[in-house]
Amino acid sequence: MIRIDVLTLFPEMCEGVFGTSILGKAREKGIARLNAVNFRDYANNKHGSVDDTPYGGGGGMVLKPEPIFAAVEHLLDNLEGRSDSGDQAISIAQEESANLRIILMCPQGRTFNQRIAEELAKEKHLIFICGHYEGYDERIREHLVTDELSIGDYVLTGGELPALTVIDAVVRLQPGALGNESSAVTDSFSTGLLEYPHYTRPAEFRGWKVPDMLLSGHHANIEAWRREQSLKRTLERRPELLEQAELTPKDHKLLERLKTELNKTCSGSRSEEQKASF
Ligand SMILES: C[S@@+](CC[C@H](N)C(=O)[O-])C[C@H]1O[C@@H](n2cnc3c(N)ncnc32)[C@H](O)[C@@H]1O
Repeated sequence: MIRIDVLTLFPEMCEGVFGTSILGKAREKGIARLNAVNFRDYANNKHGSVDDTPYGGGGGMVLKPEPIFAAVEHLLDNLEGRSDSGDQAISIAQEESANLRIILMCPQGRTFNQRIAEELAKEKHLIFICGHYEGYDERIREHLVTDELSIGDYVLTGGELPALTVIDAVVRLQPGALGNESSAVTDSFSTGLLEYPHYTRPAEFRGWKVPDMLLSGHHANIEAWRREQSLKRTLERRPELLEQAELTPKDHKLLERLKTELNKTCSGSRSEEQKASF
């Protein structure tokens, strides 16, 4: 079982997601233990304030270090089998790093992708820290966390949606989380390529037919068709992924043919701008 704790000022945002779809089922089946903690409960003042104005002036409020350190220390002190107190807070990250990651959600972090999801899915315990306001006191970044993750080059109001994005990607990789185990294996990016197109019934809809190959019942040919479609789609939409993907000599041959076909299509029907992007 993977344990995931989310430190947030808005636990209600997490609870809805934790109870729904694959995450809800993973929780029910005991595959993932999902928990939202309001770090306002760890504020060291009677007003429950967790932020303050920045030293040096300027706009926006900054999250104070005390409540976030205290919330993490409380979680770690209450882990099964751990009895010592949290005096050595400064070294928490290093000490537990073998199977614990403390992840700060922030636009300045490493950009999240499927490789990172696969890496995090192997851990036993993840703690996510969701920011708000202008940002965090830098000492949280320097002395508490093991990782900083961004979900892309844009700024959201808080870290909850980014954390939930990462959590969903990680939990669906846990053994038994998906109804159909093969779907995580063939998903886009898991193979290093984009996934092939899917079709379902009816075989013909408004005159648009499902490719004959998929109706042939010939397993090996269908697999070959899917591999080609996957390569084609990646070449058309995300050609840079091909540089890192594991490709067989047969894939390389196919790609040469697909590139030639694509160039012909480009010179025939695409605009000058589209042509320039190939
Ligand atoms: C308004 S943002 C703060 C942005 C910060 N002032 C900066 O320029 O880097 C508030 C919080 O939302 C979260 N957040 C916003 N955009 C994010 C992104 N792209 N990835 C991860 N977290 C994000 C972080 O937790 C961040 O601390």
